Amino acid sequence: MSRKTVTDIKDMKQKGQPIVMVTAYDYPLSRLAQEGGADILLVGDSLGNVVLGYEATTSVDMDDMVRACAAVCRAPGEAHIVCDMPFLSFQISPEEALRNAGRLIRKGGAQSVKMEGGKHLVPTVKKLVENGIPVMGHIGLTPQSVHQLGGYRVQGRSLAEAEELVEDALALQEAGIYSLVLEAVPWQLAQAITERLEIPTIGIGAGPRCDGQVLVIHDLIGLSFGKPAKFVKRYANVGEDIRQAVAAFGADIREGRYPEPAHQYNLSAETWAALQKALEEK
Ligand code: KIV
Repeated sequence: MSRKTVTDIKDMKQKGQPIVMVTAYDYPLSRLAQEGGADILLVGDSLGNVVLGYEATTSVDMDDMVRACAAVCRAPGEAHIVCDMPFLSFQISPEEALRNAGRLIRKGGAQSVKMEGGKHLVPTVKKLVENGIPVMGHIGLTPQSVHQLGGYRVQGRSLAEAEELVEDALALQEAGIYSLVLEAVPWQLAQAITERLEIPTIGIGAGPRCDGQVLVIHDLIGLSFGKPAKFVKRYANVGEDIRQAVAAFGADIREGRYPEPAHQYNLSAETWAALQKALEEK
């Protein structure tokens, strides 16, 4: 059983097969998402908000990503595993980006890396690709730039912004990315970009015309807090299941229903009798 490669992912666009991507940050969700048939697992820097409790992804560092990626990769399965390059791990220079991407591959076990940003990243993408590291792009709403963007808002609504995003997509493809995440952009713009690219687009809040879709797994299973974004569709209510399970566990303990005989270990009658005797003699 081997993992899907970047060639397999690119071929899916040519064959018209929709690409299913979800995030994963640990062994159990990696394993379950692969058993559920995900084509790609993204070890997203959304780890910061979703699992580590930070306000923004800008707090996530390389050590966080390497540890999460290694856990995700330890789960068996066939999904391609792509790991996000966290804030400031690729912006300083192409050389530093190569060093950090190499760490995600070597220590994290990722097969490819993802970077947020437009055409200014062309030299960095080329550096990684020339050195054998496949890169997934990410444009539109790029959460690492939340302070620059003035909040988590839809991108590409004006003609100028939309044209700029089309240029970014083409420049990144030319630089060698193998796929492109489009986040929070109007669906018509996502369709226009998807039609102009040979590589697959993977949308999140980018409408139905992308070559694939991605969601943060905690959003889709109902394990996140606060009001979900407009594009989130919830397929389970794991958060409520956990709340009810812990409440039931607490009630059982407080009312003497747990543990039951089935949950405990026994001494043999002989050993128990001998122990009682020995204790009495002390
Ligand atoms: O980190 C993340 O979860 C992402 C997705 C939103 C695409 O980058």
